[in-house]
Amino acid sequence: MRFTVAIDGPAASGKGTIGRAVAAHFGFAHLDTGLLYRAVGAKAGPEGDPVAAARDLVPEDLHRDDLRSAGAGQAASRVAAIPEVRAALVAFQRSFARREGGAVLDGRDIGTVICPDAEVKLYVIASDGVRARRRWLELSAKGDPITEDEVLADLKARDRRDAEREAAPMRPAKDAVVLDTTEMTIEVAVARALAEVEAKL
Ligand code: C5P
Repeated sequence: MRFTVAIDGPAASGKGTIGRAVAAHFGFAHLDTGLLYRAVGAKAGPEGDPVAAARDLVPEDLHRDDLRSAGAGQAASRVAAIPEVRAALVAFQRSFARREGGAVLDGRDIGTVICPDAEVKLYVIASDGVRARRRWLELSAKGDPITEDEVLADLKARDRRDAEREAAPMRPAKDAVVLDTTEMTIEVAVARALAEVEAKL
């Protein structure tokens, strides 16, 4: 059985949590595509060649322990604006999406560019304040000394870059279901996403 769930949306909107829960519920594989761009940014470093880093990416690159930091997120959104970097990652994402047994991919351009034929497309949003609070709680629980205001500034800068770039800008696919999680608990948001998948299975 091949079945693709595409989940897009801005940073810290809840798409990762929803994606993992949907995948676990249906026994689908899950790919956090943001991690690919984070790994490319970290592999290239400030002076390196991001296109070469994307072409040479290997699974171990996804296991570096600094990939979740705000700095790695900024580096990711810079390399993600380079068309050759994006092109180098397309084939892997598409074959993951069509693997036997079903797949959930979350990112920015899954429903628009990577999997325009996905069976289910969700676009997850939440207010800036709620997203900053969620990401700040996550980072401070890991011991990151970043402040909530710094997290907010980081998310806004990244959203702007991701939405305004020429190559695969962040936006909802025409046929995406928009899920605004601002006032939802994670349980309610996941239940809504599960219902969308159930309806198409
Ligand atoms: O989702 P996450 O915050 O980990 O993504 C990090 C960065 O990677 C995003 O800000 C965005 O620039 C880039 N990205 C992308 N396309 C995707 C997933 C992530 O451009 N499908």
